[in-house]
Amino acid sequence: MARSARSQLKRPGLAAALAVLAVVATGLAVVTATSPVSAVAAVAAAKTPCSAPAGRPWCNTSLSADRRAELLVAAMTLEEKVSLLGGDDLVGVAGQEGTHTGTSNGVPRLGIPTVYFSDGPVGVRQGKATGMPSPLSLAATFDPRTARAHGAVVGDEVRRKGNDVVFAPTINIMRTPVAGRTFEGFGEDPYLSGQVATGWIRGVQSQGVIGNVKHYAANNQEGQNVAVGGRLTVDVRVSERALREIYLPAFEAAVTKGHVGSVMCAYPRVNGQFACENKFLLSEALKQDWGFKGFVLTDYAAGKNPIDSLNNGLDLDIFPGAIYNPAVVLALLASGEVTQAKVDEHVHRILRTMFEFGMFDRPQSTDRHTTIDKVAHNKVVADIEARGIVLLRNKHVGVPRHRTRLLPLHDKDIRTLALIGPEANKIKDGGGSSTIDEFYFTTPLDALKARLGADRVVFDDGSDAARAAAVAAKADTAVVIVGDSMTEAVDKLEPTLNSGQTDVVDRDALITTVAAAQPRTVVVLQTGGPVLTPWRKKVRALVEMWYPGQNGGTALTRVLFGDVDPGGRLPATFPRKAGDLPTAGDPEKYPGVAETVRYKEGVMVGYRWYDHQRLGVAFPFGFGRSYTRFRYSRLEVDRTSRTSAVARFVVTNVGTRRGTAVPQLYVGMPAPRGEQQAVRQLKGFKRLSIAPGRSRTVKIRLDSRAFSYWSSAADDWSVVPGCYRIDIGTSSRNAVLTSRKAFNGGHC
Ligand code: BGC
Repeated sequence: MARSARSQLKRPGLAAALAVLAVVATGLAVVTATSPVSAVAAVAAAKTPCSAPAGRPWCNTSLSADRRAELLVAAMTLEEKVSLLGGDDLVGVAGQEGTHTGTSNGVPRLGIPTVYFSDGPVGVRQGKATGMPSPLSLAATFDPRTARAHGAVVGDEVRRKGNDVVFAPTINIMRTPVAGRTFEGFGEDPYLSGQVATGWIRGVQSQGVIGNVKHYAANNQEGQNVAVGGRLTVDVRVSERALREIYLPAFEAAVTKGHVGSVMCAYPRVNGQFACENKFLLSEALKQDWGFKGFVLTDYAAGKNPIDSLNNGLDLDIFPGAIYNPAVVLALLASGEVTQAKVDEHVHRILRTMFEFGMFDRPQSTDRHTTIDKVAHNKVVADIEARGIVLLRNKHVGVPRHRTRLLPLHDKDIRTLALIGPEANKIKDGGGSSTIDEFYFTTPLDALKARLGADRVVFDDGSDAARAAAVAAKADTAVVIVGDSMTEAVDKLEPTLNSGQTDVVDRDALITTVAAAQPRTVVVLQTGGPVLTPWRKKVRALVEMWYPGQNGGTALTRVLFGDVDPGGRLPATFPRKAGDLPTAGDPEKYPGVAETVRYKEGVMVGYRWYDHQRLGVAFPFGFGRSYTRFRYSRLEVDRTSRTSAVARFVVTNVGTRRGTAVPQLYVGMPAPRGEQQAVRQLKGFKRLSIAPGRSRTVKIRLDSRAFSYWSSAADDWSVVPGCYRIDIGTSSRNAVLTSRKAFNGGHC
């Protein structure tokens, strides 16, 4: 029987008419775009909020969403408007089948439908669902197309469980790998996070579901406990430059490129003001600068002050009885502390988004979860997960003249495989609101037995290292699978495998002991994010599979045996030691002192920090090995304007098997006067599958943002006149091609 391991905070938790599964050229099965429009056509016969009465001018589908919302707002009473500002469901957060995480009741008199909301980033959280690969694993694919496929599956299940909005994706930057929700985000780089987020949002919204990017903004830690750096009360002190360059760009991309329908404001305070009433975040950056037209809702009970929230840009308080209680809002209107125009604006934003996503022109959402194509979705999980698995180390084994790399494994060489470790018969996932109660799952043990036959796999749970080493020594090859424990609401105390585990297995010691007994030992990490790997030079092969989703065992087996190339690349740096972390050594930086956390490292987050400090790392951002080899050549960078360019280069597979290359483009910018600048910043990448002997020409466009920094003096993006270095790298630490180019009137 399959088993799933979850962390402390567990919350209990398609070939269908509208979604067609297709296999695209890359071999990845995706849920094809079921546009809201075709969905509407398919159910045209059914009753929609707009199919009945005449005399409802907002039902005219030839009008824009904004115009329709305007007409509807004009027809509403004050009480009806105020009723739309607050949620109506207290118990859905428990995640039971047939419920919704949140509900906002409609207005039957006017045919305004009820809106249903569900978590989350790893799948729909209400009863059983497909457990998708963790978002960090998805980020490791470095592929917005794969992100789109992931989002489309989640969107399909969200709809079939009767929801209209999904509380996802989580796009907070990983400032420290001890952060409890590291597994739930897209890693340490703002550009990668924005690209993956955009793909995911397009996928989920292609299913007619309104996406909800969270948690806006600077919600980068859960805290060591509620009182020490806890997310509910902590005040994040961060410069505007770091916000604009590191913590906000993924949100900006979600709005301007992904056209996300809604945003969830976060628990913490940002520079003294709670996020859900933060004028800078909500009114200025989001709505004014990026032109966001959708609506902002609260994280659960994150609203604090109704006056500031109403005036500064919070549209919907989804948890009922909290700050947008109708009696409270009506009293504030009566006292003049809030204007009618503000209330109208919030209602307009909610309704125009509902119009835009077809909610008035299709039947009210209902639960049709029995129509979910579980088998097809399970296959997509394995396909996506296989793309995110990262090969970190692969040394030679064997006697001279017959030396080969340990991976990929070959069936014919294995009489007995020892499968060892506390996570070898588990599918790990993270705790909290993105925990999924999976339909079913395939652990590494299940999948290896299916591949080799049960009699060729010897399993040991690793609880006794000496015993496990003896089992490994007797086998031809050992695979040791170890994981960590991560959850929403509390951070890990250390960035280690053992931190926060409920058992007493010393995973680091287990690895060292087994690897000493069996040279053909492959270590596999099933972790939520980066961990310390003090034993890494003692093992010949090391693979990171992340929290892999319900079919992770199948994906891992395919990579170990070379059916597919390990195409994943690290979306976050693996440090050498805890003391090297950007947040180490200063409690004001982390976890905070007196509920204030100071982001003193500014823009030097992730690899920017390790580069800036000239620190060695265990495995750098962007790193991952292939089973084949690539050559990079002919970099040309052409300026297309004073502040934009296009880069072209060639990638050739010079090995003997098909493989995945992920060339990354980093820009080294001149430092602005009086300010620091990162050594390099990711500004482009491409995932390529190339046959042996074949070449691909890659073209990457670089707009002016690729060369800009946030100038506080100008209160705007600015391009320093000067010489810029453009590196093509196989990781942040391995440039294979370099060019220099002057921008904005500068010289090289
Ligand atoms: C989490 C959100 C989640 C919400 C509803 C909160 O605690 O921070 O991410 O969507 O709960 O479950």
